[in-house]
Amino acid sequence: MTSSFRFSLHATDGKARTGLISTPRGDVRTPAFMPVGTAATVKAMMPESVRDTGADILLGNTYHLMLRPTAERVNRLGGLHKFMNWDRPILTDSGGFQVMSLNDLRKLKEEGVTFKSHIDGSKHHLTPERSMEIQRLLGSDIVMCFDECTPYPVEEKASLASMQLSMRWAQRSRDAFGDRPGYALFGIQQGSVFRDQRAESAQKLRDVGFEGYAIGGLAVGEGQGAMFDVLNYAPDMLPEDKPRYLMGVGKPDDIVGAVKRGVDMMDCVLPSRSGRTGQVFTRRGVINIKNARHLDDPRPLDEDCTCPTCRKYSRAYLHHVFRSQEIISSMLLTWHNLHYYQELMAAMRGAISAGTFAQFEADFLTMRAQGDI
Ligand code: GUN
Ligand code: ZN
Repeated sequence: MTSSFRFSLHATDGKARTGLISTPRGDVRTPAFMPVGTAATVKAMMPESVRDTGADILLGNTYHLMLRPTAERVNRLGGLHKFMNWDRPILTDSGGFQVMSLNDLRKLKEEGVTFKSHIDGSKHHLTPERSMEIQRLLGSDIVMCFDECTPYPVEEKASLASMQLSMRWAQRSRDAFGDRPGYALFGIQQGSVFRDQRAESAQKLRDVGFEGYAIGGLAVGEGQGAMFDVLNYAPDMLPEDKPRYLMGVGKPDDIVGAVKRGVDMMDCVLPSRSGRTGQVFTRRGVINIKNARHLDDPRPLDEDCTCPTCRKYSRAYLHHVFRSQEIISSMLLTWHNLHYYQELMAAMRGAISAGTFAQFEADFLTMRAQGDI
């Protein structure tokens, strides 16, 4: 255990990096995948089980928690870690992205965003200062700057204005966050698909100075090709000695492509949400457990997977409980999906350490291409 927030790089292979984020609440092995625990729970999972899948850190959401049960209540009850029974690191998103994507009754100004609660219609205000206060009340270990996730597609001029607003909010976030040893504030790069804007944003963030740097405004409909085009240069614009976090990504092949391009951290609802909709990720591709071809199949989801779902349950059973809308269906499929994602991260960390990332990527792509699962 350490009393400060630190990042150390252990090995690189091409642009891919592996290292360790040390926090007073524990270490995060990178590249890291953060399961999403929006409302103080990774849906359908006990926190102990999330840890058993290999997760070092969870993501929580300012937007949801400020509305219910409120940051002040979580604080009175001892903070988010105690409240949800997860004592390891937590990163919280700042709320701007969720307000804009989940709330159509919102108004954005220089000062911040005003919106109505989707729960009871009450009026709320989020500013960089209030977002920092909420994330402090929650007890978040890694706090995200308040920003605007620029929508896609977007005109170059509109993207510039949006990025520059986010950079003014980044300075206000830094000022409001203050000096909090052991806790980290991450800046968020914007600039959509425009290289010069990504460069300007990165320079602004570096001038302010953060403990880590996120790449925002991607995976918003631009497609994998356009996202990889941006990731071919965006991570290089950020400091080499600080963690780089790609927000809201992604599918397994997005994750492998992002790590290849120098990303250290990612989060996505995909493994947990898909667990509830019957989509299963395996090394050979995606299985839809709803499909009638699993009715009589005694095999596990993946013969080589060591998760409890694959060790103890057949596809036939998983098909049955999914079709019957039994709660255990969400539990078992989410467990497998999160295990698959964490095994993927562990395999990439191993390959980078061994200097075999190119071979890892080739094998990863061949396995999936074989199909027929
Ligand atoms: N989640 C996915 N993309 C973004 C982004 O650009 N900003 C924030 N704050 N959260 C995100
Ligand atoms: Zn499994």
